[in-house]
This record gives sequence, structure tokens and C-alpha cells, in this order.
Amino acid sequence: MTDTATKLGSESIKTEMLIDGLWTSGSSSERISVFDPATGEELTQVAAGTPADAVAACDAASEAQRRWAATAPRVRAEVLRSCWQILVDHTDELAELITREHGKPLADATGEVSYAAEFFRWNAEEAVRIHGSIATAPSGANKILVHHPPIGVVVIVTPWNFPAAMITRKLAPALAAGNACVIKPPKETPLTALRIGQLLSEAGVPDGVINIVPTLDSGAWFDAAVDHRATRMVSFTGSTEVGRILLRRSADRVLKTVMELGGNAPFIVFADADLEAAVEGAMVAKMRHSAETCTAANRFFAEASVADQFTEMLAEAMASIKTGNGLEQGVTCGPMINRSAVASIDELVQGAVADGATVKLGGGRMDGPGYFYQPTVLSGVRPGSELTKNEIFGPVAPVISFDETSTMIEQANDTEMGLAAYVYTSDIGRGLSVCERLESGMVGLNRGAMSDPAAPFGGMKQSGLGREGASEGIYEFTETQYIATDW
Ligand code: SIN
Repeated sequence: MTDTATKLGSESIKTEMLIDGLWTSGSSSERISVFDPATGEELTQVAAGTPADAVAACDAASEAQRRWAATAPRVRAEVLRSCWQILVDHTDELAELITREHGKPLADATGEVSYAAEFFRWNAEEAVRIHGSIATAPSGANKILVHHPPIGVVVIVTPWNFPAAMITRKLAPALAAGNACVIKPPKETPLTALRIGQLLSEAGVPDGVINIVPTLDSGAWFDAAVDHRATRMVSFTGSTEVGRILLRRSADRVLKTVMELGGNAPFIVFADADLEAAVEGAMVAKMRHSAETCTAANRFFAEASVADQFTEMLAEAMASIKTGNGLEQGVTCGPMINRSAVASIDELVQGAVADGATVKLGGGRMDGPGYFYQPTVLSGVRPGSELTKNEIFGPVAPVISFDETSTMIEQANDTEMGLAAYVYTSDIGRGLSVCERLESGMVGLNRGAMSDPAAPFGGMKQSGLGREGASEGIYEFTETQYIATDW
């Protein structure tokens, strides 16, 4: 066993994996290099877990879960409340760490810490409200008692775009319901995960209830975790492509899954909308967290009579973005996560231009070091073109003009994704009826942001299965048991 830490910013960050309350280098000497996307330089290295380490973590979780499930809900709730408090108390430090390894501007990173912490406060409140039910059977012969025990060991696989919040959105309800977890953080941003693990242990989460095992070999790691006899659930946030693979593999053991997958959000602006508010909302929906969110506005549909004006106003707002190192004062868009992310964005943009789109702003890579892309606005984008079919995950806003609402809705729904959508209009009746017709799990009506631990986050169609947050979020991490009885 080793216990190694690296100094980053003001804090010492553990760079080993967390299994059963111990910081260990695991069964291999392999290390994962973590890079600063703003400079391309290596920040540090962390221990790389093997399938054997995933098994050790599942063993530990299995043991710890029995005790944790037997802990009174009120006690679990108080531990969760302490988790919220400790994350809030370490906001500045965690935000700096997120910015260093992810690149997002410090203001976004600070917002992420608050969002991440809030999942613990919300679920501390939910932990004591996991309700069952009792009914008399229609025959009158017996009672139907229903309650919700925890599932057991939950495997959590998270993406790099929210190094803190995508972990806590799963972890907090899982713990509140009495489960233990084995977490595979992304190889790009494992430091925030490890630091959170350290803080949550300090906040009183018992050893073994949270295990964190980064890896370079996700496939073998996941196979080992899924095949462990104690694993009963997989909770994943990431691309639809990877989600399908994890779903297939989880099917081998008929594991419960919650999947938060890709998006392709339409952002719809009607001619009667307050255009200034629409542009403000568009900037949030497009650019929060450096435009690397699944909920990001991916296709802007503007009604023909205001399309030029909206495009100009949007281009002006996008032109005011300051791109740079997220640690620098005033920066509002950081680097993309790596070189290949920049290449994918550029391929989509160049493809759209070749397909007839006009570049109103930007339209290309920026000089390094680091992985930057120019804030870009495109007009005259053809519905159905490659750009409109793919999640951009970068600071690119393609505008499509529309004449007829029904046709526009068909185009907005013409995607296998259905995570988020946005509608701007001053006619609330029309707005609500358009919201209802959109095949999307979440819709912002005259709002560019909707993520909230108190709301059900999740998608329709191939954007996912299940919901995170709100009251239903905690039930995803429970079983339903029915007891037939009489007295
Ligand atoms: C995501 O990009 O997957 C999450 C976005 C959010 O929670 O706001």
C-alpha cells in the first residue's frame, strides 16, 4: 500500500485509488498522466486501476454496504449533510482543481462545485423520505405492503465534462438509499474525483462505502465490475455510443441501469420572443462550462422574420467571449478537453461550410499551446446536414431559419436524441404547446439553464434511461419489494 499525494494549487491531492478507506496504488505500477488542457502540459500522474482493483473495490463495497444499509436513515442523512458542508467549505480549492484538469473558467467551476454539493443536501433531505405504501388487495384477502430497500453495490461511470457534479449526482442518492459505490472517474479528470473521495471520507462516509478506481483500461475494468457477484446496478453518464456498450454488457447480469447519454438540443426562437432575453439564454444554453455539456444548445431554429437579427445579436454576444486559460481573470470559455475534441469540432464546422453554411463568426481552431476553438456562429445551416445530426461539444452555434412551426418541430425532433430543448416566445400558451410536442426529457421555456438537483434530469429516446435528481432520483437506487400479508 502506498499513500501518495501531489501538490496542486493550495492543496495536496491524493494520487492513489481509494479502496475500503485506504489509499493504494493497486495491483499495477501503471500511472495515468493527467494534463492541463490549457497548456497541454502534464499536471501529475495517478494510479491506474486494473480489473483486479475493480474486483477489490467491489468486495469492499459489498462488505461495507451491509452495514451502511443497516444504518438509520437519519444517520445517513446527517452524513450526507456533512458531505454537502465539506464540499461547500472547499469550494475555491475544488473549483481551481476542476479548472486545472478540465479547463473550464473558474466561475463555471465554482458553479459546478455548488451544483455538485447540492446533490448531497437535497438527498440528505430525501434519505428520510423513501416512502412505501400499503393497500388492501382488491379481493380483501390480504394487505399489499410495498417498501424500497437499497439495491446493493452500484457501479458509477462518469464523464470528464463535470468532474465533480456527475459523480455527486449519482453518489448522493445512491448513498442516501443505503447503497455502496465503486466509481470509475474519467482518465482525463480523475483528480477532482479523488479529492472529493478524500473529503467525503473526512465528512464521515464509512470506509468501503465509496471506492474510487481510475483506470486506463475502461473495458476490462467494467467487465470485472459488472461480473462481480455483488454488483446490482450501473449508473453511467457519457456518450450514447458508450452507453449502448455498457447496456449490452450489463444485460449479461441483468443489472439495473440508469443512463444519461448524449444530446442534440434544439433552441427555438419565435418572432415574438424578447430577442435580448433569447440571446442571453442562448449564451447560457450554448456556452456554460465551455460548451461541453450534454444539454448544450446544438441547433438554433430562428423564425424567418427575426433569423438575421437573432443571428447578428448572437454573433455579437459570441464575439465578446474571452477564450483562454480558465484560471485567468475574465476568461469565459476555456480550452476543449484535448486535441481530438478540437479536430472533431472543426470537422463538423468545415463540413457545414462545404454544405452551404455561412460563417458569421470564428470558424476555426486557435493557436496553442492548449486546445482552443474560436467561438463560432454559422447561418444558413441545412436541416439534416451532418452538423445538425451530431453533438458538437464546442463553442459553435449553427442557426437554421424556419417559416412554419410544424415543419420546424419535425426538424427539431428529427434526431435519435431527446435530452434537452429550449423555447423562446412571449406567448406562453404557444410555448407550452411547443414544449409538449418536443421529444425531449427537459425543456427550458424562456430559460437557458434548467439543471437543478431538485428536478428530474434525463432524456427521452437514445438520450438515456431513468432520471437523476428530484424525488424520483433516489428511487432509481432502490429495489421495490412487495410483501403480501394479513392480520
Ligand atoms: C451533462 O452535460 O451531462 C450534464 C449537464 C448538467 O447537469 O447541467
